[in-house]
Amino acid sequence: MLDVTVAKSALPSSGALVLPVAEDASEQAAGWGGLDAATGGAITRALAAAEFTGKKGQTVTILAPGAGLSRVVAVGLGKPADLTALVAEEAGGQAVASLSRETTVALAAGPLAADWAAHMALGAVLRSYRFDRYRTTEKPEEKQRLAGISVLAADPAAVRAAWEALKPVAEGVFLARDLVSEPPNVLTPTEMAERCEGLEKLGLKIEVLGPKDMAKLGFGALLGVSQGSVQEPRMVVMQWHGASDGDRKGGKGKKAGRARPIAFIGKGVTFDSGGISIKPAAGMEDMKWDMAGAGAVVGLMAALAGRRAKVDAVGLVGLVENMPSGSAQRPGDVVKTYSGQTVEIINTDAEGRMVLADVLWYCQERFEPRFMIDLATLTGAMIVSLGHEMGGFFCNDDALAQQLHAAGEASGEKLWRMPLGEAYDRQLKSDIADMKHVGGRPGSAITAAQFLQRFVNGKPWAHLDIAGMAWATKDSAVSPKGATAYGVRLLDRLVAEHCEG
Ligand code: BES
Ligand code: MN
Ligand code: ZN
Repeated sequence: MLDVTVAKSALPSSGALVLPVAEDASEQAAGWGGLDAATGGAITRALAAAEFTGKKGQTVTILAPGAGLSRVVAVGLGKPADLTALVAEEAGGQAVASLSRETTVALAAGPLAADWAAHMALGAVLRSYRFDRYRTTEKPEEKQRLAGISVLAADPAAVRAAWEALKPVAEGVFLARDLVSEPPNVLTPTEMAERCEGLEKLGLKIEVLGPKDMAKLGFGALLGVSQGSVQEPRMVVMQWHGASDGDRKGGKGKKAGRARPIAFIGKGVTFDSGGISIKPAAGMEDMKWDMAGAGAVVGLMAALAGRRAKVDAVGLVGLVENMPSGSAQRPGDVVKTYSGQTVEIINTDAEGRMVLADVLWYCQERFEPRFMIDLATLTGAMIVSLGHEMGGFFCNDDALAQQLHAAGEASGEKLWRMPLGEAYDRQLKSDIADMKHVGGRPGSAITAAQFLQRFVNGKPWAHLDIAGMAWATKDSAVSPKGATAYGVRLLDRLVAEHCEG
């Protein structure tokens, strides 16, 4: 990860300089720290020639303007009144996109408030992510050179403090992206569980359950998915206790001495071949990222622990591989879930909901959480509905739904609420068991959510179908193409705004 340092404003004598510029303030920017004078007016001339006005998203790169600088990148912030953390992050991301060949980049926070400057650095860091572990023949000139950003600010201490709270979020995003990017022969359920155990160093309590533990509990749904694979399944339970002592002592009843936690649950199918209902060959390699829901939960828990969030939170991930084999589950099988409800298997490619069914029931029973939010690359139908612009969510609690939607807008990881309803639920009627797990083609993202709802025991819950958001085929402002870690910043924001203190 890029190293972010903060220093007192001064004109750097070499390297690249990023100049954030608000709309209609281009002259002030050019004059920044004597830059325009030092370059003989080159900045003003270049910005005028490019018709740069500081509009949001606008960037101009000025090469070798003088004063020893290799380049100056002016990036538009839009109208000062409309400036938000997200706008600052996107500006930082856009600026750094063209600077990977530089070794050092200075970011002239200049007139920006400390918080915005730190968010701009966050955007730059997030955009610079690269997963190059398996590139062994890359030439030096193809490698990313950029190793750090130095933020130049009027009040370095304030920017440093703001960055300290954001850095763990960037680390959580990078962790989630690494997990999602790893190939499925490397990131098996056991490997992913081991990487979760590594988070104990952040102060998280980690428990790992294996197949025997889950068989003893009666996880028939999760184990049914896993039974065709030679890779053993795992469930990982991560706990973060960050709520104040006062809160903990206040608790009464069964969980005496401890406030009820909030809970996040992730679908972690490390490879989804479809099983006996096997998927077509074209694009099947994408199904290595069918654990992105779990990856986001792990990244989120790391972020919360890393920034010592004042909240009690649990993260549970169900980790399995879905494979066809002589021991694989068949369409027509009936399994008994941990909840006791029986399910008729119709299509072994609808495996994610089976994994979540057992983990959700276990979570609500053991932790009595204030709410549960699950994340899953659950259905292709969700991609048909919302494309790659927003995640779809389903929620049985209007207040939680409203908070989630707002966190989506604020974080830039947008969400759109989808419906739940009895009529959809009826599509799950089975002739042999308590239910079947698929309800046919019409509304199949919705019937998947209806299925999950049968395993939340009436508790406050939201289901995020992130199938269209987990992986990007093109760059965006704060996320290079590939694994996005969608959900980490969204839920970190939700926790920060509504669950802490
Ligand atoms: N992991 C897939 C959903 C998916 C598809 C995610 C494409 C990302 C990109 C899921 O397990 C699945 O196969 N869903 C089926 C369900 C169907 C068999 C009822 C689907 O959506 O087609
Ligand atoms: Mn599937
Ligand atoms: Zn799947």
